[in-house]
Amino acid sequence: MAFPINRPRRLRRTETIRRMVRETRLSPDDLILPMFVCPGRGVKKAVESMPGVAQMSVDNIVAEARETWAAGVPAVILFGIPERKDPQGSEAWNDNGEVQRAIREIKERVPSMAVITDVCMCEYTDHGHCGALAGNDVDNDATLELLVRSALSHARAGADIVAPSDMMDGRVGAIRAALDSNGFSQVAIMAYSAKFASAFYGPFREAAESAPKFGDRRSYQMDPPNGDEAMREVALDLEEGADIVMVKPALPYLDLIWRVKQEFNAPVAAYNVSGEYSMIRAAGINGWIDEERATLEVLIAIKRAGADLILTYFAKDVARKLRGQG
Ligand code: PBG
Repeated sequence: MAFPINRPRRLRRTETIRRMVRETRLSPDDLILPMFVCPGRGVKKAVESMPGVAQMSVDNIVAEARETWAAGVPAVILFGIPERKDPQGSEAWNDNGEVQRAIREIKERVPSMAVITDVCMCEYTDHGHCGALAGNDVDNDATLELLVRSALSHARAGADIVAPSDMMDGRVGAIRAALDSNGFSQVAIMAYSAKFASAFYGPFREAAESAPKFGDRRSYQMDPPNGDEAMREVALDLEEGADIVMVKPALPYLDLIWRVKQEFNAPVAAYNVSGEYSMIRAAGINGWIDEERATLEVLIAIKRAGADLILTYFAKDVARKLRGQG
């Protein structure tokens, strides 16, 4: 049946009708807010390349978590900026480190909020790479032990979900085994499974003070042109016990979010990373784009591609908008 019988515009005529036939919906339930925990008290240090994002000490992290929960967002993911760094990144498994204290405080004061922790060495090593070095490269198998220590320390502090983002081979299996044999079989793993060596992490490295001091991350993070390999990474992580798999970044990899959802039908997270955030913010601040509409359009696209969960620095603000409080 063709025109003039068929007129698709009939269902676009009013906002009410559009609302009735809308296929994809974004909910605060879908969102996870990343936060940067730094040492000190009363600290709120703006990240220049991410307007609206700040490094915060534990007290301010808890306040932000409370507001985020009140806005309807169920979870936060924590990144730590340690007091001191060393070649091994040993602050990553300090039970009194910034992240560990933040977990305990959030769990005490905002008990229903799900607390996720990023498990990676790059914020903790003095060289800024995501593991222990052997020469100029990251030693895969030696790094597994460090990641395990870090994940166990987060679990001891009360993390609900640990999220390894290092891209070492075998880390999901190693972390799962260690959690299980230490009484943490209920702690879930959200694996950064298809994490690409991306230019879009630039602003994050200022926020987390985690830029590599030499070289780049291309010997462990994925090569952007590779989609089939991303499917193999996801398959491995699921075999090793990942509960949630992630594609990262989100926007340049929407095709892979779609493929992961179609091929594996597992819970899929997508990370709308720092560079994706800062591009929209910068254009918005300059008056070059309608920031609110652009943000909602991007997040709904990520959801339409198949993501069940979206990690985004916009989480609190968007949740408020969705609930009509913004
Ligand atoms: C740590 C890590 C990174 C991000 C999340 N975890 C940076 C990197 O791999 O260099 C990036 C997040 C963002 O850009 O928002 N490995």
